[in-house]
Amino acid sequence: MKKVKVCLIGSGRAGMIHARNMAGSVPGGEIYAACDPDVKAAKAAAEELGIDTYYQDYKEAIGDESIDAVIIACPTKYHREIAVAAANAGKHIFCEKPMAMNEEECDEMIKAAKSNNVKLQIGFMRRFDDSFREAKKMIEEGEIGDVVLVKSHTRGPSKPREWMYDIEKSNGPLAEVCSHDIDTVRWFAGSELKSVYALGGNFRNKEIAEQYPDFYDNVIVNAEFENGVHASIEGAQYVQYGYDARVEILGTKGVICIGDMHEKKITSANESHQLKRPSMHSWTHLFKDAYLLEDRSFIEAILNDSEVECSGYDGKMAVKIVKAGNESIVQKKIVML
Ligand SMILES: NC(=O)c1ccc[n+]([C@@H]2O[C@H](COP(=O)([O-])OP(=O)(O)OC[C@H]3O[C@@H](n4cnc5c(N)ncnc54)[C@H](O)[C@@H]3O)[C@@H](O)[C@H]2O)c1
Repeated sequence: MKKVKVCLIGSGRAGMIHARNMAGSVPGGEIYAACDPDVKAAKAAAEELGIDTYYQDYKEAIGDESIDAVIIACPTKYHREIAVAAANAGKHIFCEKPMAMNEEECDEMIKAAKSNNVKLQIGFMRRFDDSFREAKKMIEEGEIGDVVLVKSHTRGPSKPREWMYDIEKSNGPLAEVCSHDIDTVRWFAGSELKSVYALGGNFRNKEIAEQYPDFYDNVIVNAEFENGVHASIEGAQYVQYGYDARVEILGTKGVICIGDMHEKKITSANESHQLKRPSMHSWTHLFKDAYLLEDRSFIEAILNDSEVECSGYDGKMAVKIVKAGNESIVQKKIVML
């Protein structure tokens, strides 16, 4: 059977997770090329992946007839341009979250994929995580009655990338960190958001406050869905204590909690009389299996010509909520969607 030849565009942290998966762990898929404007990064990626082909310019990459699909994992502001060009060249597209900078860009990507008859999947890998999938099933089976409130938070340990500082160019932590929480609350509530109220502040990156006065590294959002379900989202960058992603779904007859702060199920103590249990250190570790399952799902959708599990529409709705949240932070008011 012919394998789907994949080119990675953006050979950084997220991209390399997918590329490593495609290099042997995804049946029917094959990593074929790496691309990055930083040619050293592209070359290093190719060497690590054991492939010969690498590109500096994405236009050359998508002009390569051997390539069937691209994984777009570069800064968000380039997603639209690359995705539209890839679709027009007949390549299937896996695009990391956030899908794009605004709804209009998402529409362009959706339209290009549709008119060229190629798949467009967005990187909401939490939907492929075992616990998230089980929670969704429990909700659908009525195990906690009707859903009343979905709370989701993501706190990351590391300093934001420099390209994230300018909110105009990155849409900020609501996009970079909370896109996943936004998709999660939408998925579990089974509805679209009606209103959002958000607060943001810069508490841990004060040295950039003068140059980037709009930057926030902590955000909270209260929101209401069209079906009446309430949502609470919180995001934080550079928390330093670990990677902390947890969800709680409160129903009329019960509650579901996903995740905890621990890396392993082992606790130790010694002569210091202190219990010790390492905290989860990285999203790459916590969602390792979920990334693999989403990559497999993308290739299966191509090979079987079936619907992708996270569509351009899901990506667009998350972007819409990000924009509304950022507007709410600036205007200090409830934004109706
Ligand atoms: N799904 C997830 O959990 C997850 C996690 C992290 C990042 N992401 C997303 O992945 C994307 C990349 O984030 P990252 O953390 O890997 O960033 P990164 O800075 O580690 O890597 C980005 C790479 O893209 C390259 N690049 C810059 N401009 C480019 C262009 N025009 N064309 C091609 N490549 C270009 C950079 O040189 C760099 O190597 C972002 O959209 C981010 O939100 C998703």
